[in-house]
Amino acid sequence: MNIRPRRLRKQPIIREMVAETRLSKDMFIYPYFVTKGSGLIQSIEAMPGIHRFSVDTLIKDVEQGLKVGVNKVLLFGVGEEKSEDASSAHHDHSVVAEAVRQLKKQFGSDLYVITDVCLCAYTTHGHCGVIENDYVQNDPSVDILAKMALTHARAGADMVAPSDMMDGRIAGLRSYLDDNGYQDTPIMSYAVKFASAYYGPFREAADSAPGKGDRKSYQMDFRNGREAIREAALDEMEGADIVMVKPALAYLDIIRDVRQQTELPVACYNVSAEYTMVKLAASAGLIDGQRIIMENMHAFARAGADIVITYHAREILEQQWL
Ligand code: PBG
Ligand code: ZN
Repeated sequence: MNIRPRRLRKQPIIREMVAETRLSKDMFIYPYFVTKGSGLIQSIEAMPGIHRFSVDTLIKDVEQGLKVGVNKVLLFGVGEEKSEDASSAHHDHSVVAEAVRQLKKQFGSDLYVITDVCLCAYTTHGHCGVIENDYVQNDPSVDILAKMALTHARAGADMVAPSDMMDGRIAGLRSYLDDNGYQDTPIMSYAVKFASAYYGPFREAADSAPGKGDRKSYQMDFRNGREAIREAALDEMEGADIVMVKPALAYLDIIRDVRQQTELPVACYNVSAEYTMVKLAASAGLIDGQRIIMENMHAFARAGADIVITYHAREILEQQWL
């Protein structure tokens, strides 16, 4: 026997040398839920360790995070007035716009602020677009999403991230942003977003569950892999700067496929239920939380993700697990 793979596994030093995948603190984005009011830090039962913040408490929490290197955040608005046409989503004083302004004022270029652009937390029915004749209407929804993106850009958002899955929204947002002078605001597209039960805890956090029906007429069918390539390619052609795959853990094959078909940076979203499953099993003492979390993070990177959006980001950096 002259081939013995174990030779390179013998000591820690050699294992470090031949490691194929390395994580960096720069690859993580930390999501935040921001709500109206002041002095609020509300825990979210379905997501242990994650909270809803009002703008003032958000600033304080972000300041703590920055100290350990959490310098990219993704903001979700919660608790705005809901309407049929989601008009509060693009109000100049929406909670997200307000949060962006305050964060940029406090932290400037030390903090990179990304906003989620979607209507589900702003519509009475909880769908990601506007409804007519019992159907989520595509093009009218894109128009509203574009206004929402512009509102965020004007407030100072460094990047916008549409998560609605309407057709043509990247082109719609891109041209609307460009026409209004925001040609330099990048778009991270939730390009490949599956209709998934893994979003359950998030919908409690964001109060964004659809009142009736599901999201299957716009989010992807999890039986489809080739269609993922198509979605990513379309968004790239429409001008996306980064393409995202979501969820992440059960979709590592998709991350790999998308990585191989685009030269754009690829992000993955380690979603709420993926987080909750790990946290609950760990707090019950049934698994080693740190080791499972870090194994998952390496799996995302090994599959081809350059960027990982994860609720674990704060803990990973705070505990210096990298
Ligand atoms: C809104 C949105 C969702 C998530 C991110 N943006 C929920 C959904 O589409 O139902 C899910 C994030 C998570 O589960 O952590 N469109
Ligand atoms: Zn939505």
